[in-house]
Amino acid sequence: MAAAPTHRFIISLLLLLLSAIRAYAMRVAVTGTTGRLGREAAQLLSAKGIATNCLLRHPIDSSITPSIDKDASSAQVASYLSSLPGVKMIEGDATDKSSCKALIQDCDAVLALHGPVKPPPLQSLFRLLPEDDPKHSKAVNYMAVQNLIDAVRQSPTCKRIVRVTGKGEDPFGIFSILINMLGNMAKGWNYEGEQLLRDSGLDYTIVRPGVMGRDDIPTGKLALVDNGQDLPVSSVTHSQIADLCVECLNYPNAARATLTAMNVEEGTGEDNYAPLLEKVNADTRVFPSTLLEEHKRGARIGSAVLASFAAVFASAFIAVFKSVASLLTS
Ligand SMILES: NC(=O)c1ccc[n+]([C@@H]2O[C@H](COP(=O)([O-])OP(=O)(O)OC[C@H]3O[C@@H](n4cnc5c(N)ncnc54)[C@H](OP(=O)(O)O)[C@@H]3O)[C@@H](O)[C@H]2O)c1
Repeated sequence: MAAAPTHRFIISLLLLLLSAIRAYAMRVAVTGTTGRLGREAAQLLSAKGIATNCLLRHPIDSSITPSIDKDASSAQVASYLSSLPGVKMIEGDATDKSSCKALIQDCDAVLALHGPVKPPPLQSLFRLLPEDDPKHSKAVNYMAVQNLIDAVRQSPTCKRIVRVTGKGEDPFGIFSILINMLGNMAKGWNYEGEQLLRDSGLDYTIVRPGVMGRDDIPTGKLALVDNGQDLPVSSVTHSQIADLCVECLNYPNAARATLTAMNVEEGTGEDNYAPLLEKVNADTRVFPSTLLEEHKRGARIGSAVLASFAAVFASAFIAVFKSVASLLTS
């Protein structure tokens, strides 16, 4: 009778050992590692003892001070991450097919955490990037996803893609319109990138997070729904979403799944993603085959509304200016 706790202890020890061996045997590729989400994922993977290939757009600059501070530059972050245990930097660009192939070499999974670098707001309003520009969201949110899919198809080892996108099925929602207007149709192309994954026949997990940015969210708030279902938009932290991206690799049931990750009222959610991931299932609903034209129409309507407001504001300003000027000159 007294042997039972000893058995349980030995079994727990063996399980721990097995997961440690599995972690050490695993290699994960990450894109967008210098970004706010990617850097959290790279640090987490390293802390878990999982070997990591990080895609890096510029060579490491040995003359700069490595830093992971909030206001650190992309180059400082790259330099910091390159010194972490198990982290290997691969120079390249996700819009380049051969870079994607080199990145996932020997990897078991890829976390696609890259996203277009946001242009200054006024620049994006007045100077639209052409769709064939490598910085356009079409290249970064869509073509780069196709490159990763092609690389995974050719890889004998890499069997899973995790992609972080965002809520993208409401082209006429205010957030979609603003993000599409200011970010070269980033929402529209992110959705099209999701469709590439759903149609690929590969094991993907799409994560649609809330607004990432805050880092002071209390515990007991995590919520997750599958099948691309909706949850009210909330703030989430980059580290929560990085944790979800890494954790879902342990759940075969999270393959071919589109997950929405938000925070809910304190005490009504979970402290960690394990109990939520246990319950998720592969996509079953039919997603709209393309929403790009609607996203473009939404952005056009948004631009027209903005232009009308600007015209009304400008004519009111001119009228006030004229009456002040006539008062002063009379
Ligand atoms: N922030 C949010 O609230 C939010 C919400 C939902 C979804 N998302 C999505 O989550 C993802 C990551 O967000 P984030 O906040 O970490 O973004 P971020 O800080 O702007 O990071 C973007 C990363 O993507 C990299 N990148 C850009 N173009 C690339 C290319 N052609 N090839 C390879 N890497 C490239 C950048 O590299 P460099 O450092 O070299 O420029 C950077 O590392 C994005 O896809 C974003 O759309 C964000």
